[in-house]
Amino acid sequence: MSFKTPKKIENFSGSEEIMAASISEPEDKILDIALRPKNWQEYIGQERIKNGLKILLEAAKLRQEPVDHLLFYGPAGLGKTTLAYIIAKEMSASLKITSGPAIEKIGDLASILTNLSPGDVLFIDEVHRLNKTIGEVLYPAMENRTLDIIIGKGPSARTIQLELPPFSLIAATTRIGLLSGPLRSRFGATFRLDFYENQDIEKIIARSAELLNVPIEKEAVKIIALSSRATPRTANRLLKRCRDYAQVKAGGILNKDVAEEALKMMEIDEKGLETTDRRLLEILIDKFEGGPVGLQTLAAAASEENDTIEDIYEPYLMQLGLINRTPKGRVATKRAYEHLGRPYPHEQTIKLL
Ligand SMILES: Nc1ncnc2c1ncn2[C@@H]1O[C@H](COP(=O)(O)OP(=O)(O)O)[C@@H](O)[C@H]1O
Ligand SMILES: [Mg+2]
Repeated sequence: MSFKTPKKIENFSGSEEIMAASISEPEDKILDIALRPKNWQEYIGQERIKNGLKILLEAAKLRQEPVDHLLFYGPAGLGKTTLAYIIAKEMSASLKITSGPAIEKIGDLASILTNLSPGDVLFIDEVHRLNKTIGEVLYPAMENRTLDIIIGKGPSARTIQLELPPFSLIAATTRIGLLSGPLRSRFGATFRLDFYENQDIEKIIARSAELLNVPIEKEAVKIIALSSRATPRTANRLLKRCRDYAQVKAGGILNKDVAEEALKMMEIDEKGLETTDRRLLEILIDKFEGGPVGLQTLAAAASEENDTIEDIYEPYLMQLGLINRTPKGRVATKRAYEHLGRPYPHEQTIKLL
């Protein structure tokens, strides 16, 4: 039995990544590719993860086996996809890239798996969006490299088992909670990516400025870093926008004043909050008296997608302690009231008493 190579998969050597529903903007994507670190040295920060991975890779190389199946989770733009690239490179393996939503049928996944060559790294992005039934095909594939295929229907249906070449699965998700227990348990190691230390974001901005040939002053790096939501992708995006501003308004030099002006023009405040972040807080406070509000309701009121709120805005708002997630929904914290310059209702009540 043979399967055709699906159109939704590309080799590492191919310049294109196929992701059906990427949450990043197209502009981000071009930047992502241009600035993506190619080795451990260029991959700044996340020392704990890097060290853990280096040991896993070293051990696999010594055994001359593919590295264990790996799961990366954490908010968007923190470097999950980049890790998959570096790991494949370190293992001298070819990287095949697909994503949960791109795999529409069991046949799609079956053809991806049967087209793997020994030692390949298969990267499934947004694995939480992989259909559950299709996902079950991965269990035996990950566990003992077999693919169970049912042929025919009804009483005459039979299962045949195909053997797969040795391979490593790397999966990434922004929502670990949506993965089934059986799937999670089949990864040899799971790593959570955290928001970056400010000093690491500064290093990333300095590196990117060099790659993009942007003359930038130290103070400007600092200012952009503070507005970058502790996220490399955001840092790179802001750097590029500040560079554009510098070129148009300030003769190309990116100094403190230019960075401040550019960020102000983009309506990004000193905590890195954008218009939408502030709007979400305003809706929570003004429309819903601080919550709790369900995600659906909040998303509808803000005319945003649920996923966008959960993947892009909420993780950082929670990191800053501006909103809390409770079983009943999202709640604005006292800090959120303060950030928007609104009186905190509980204190008001106390004053009234
Ligand atoms: N540790 C890092 N050091 C330097 N740049 C990074 C790092 N992690 C991510 N980046 C930058 O941020 C971009 C987004 O990273 P990516 O791996 O696509 O994030 P994710 O897959 O988690 O959404 C990358 O292209 C790269 O330019
Ligand atoms: Mg990614």
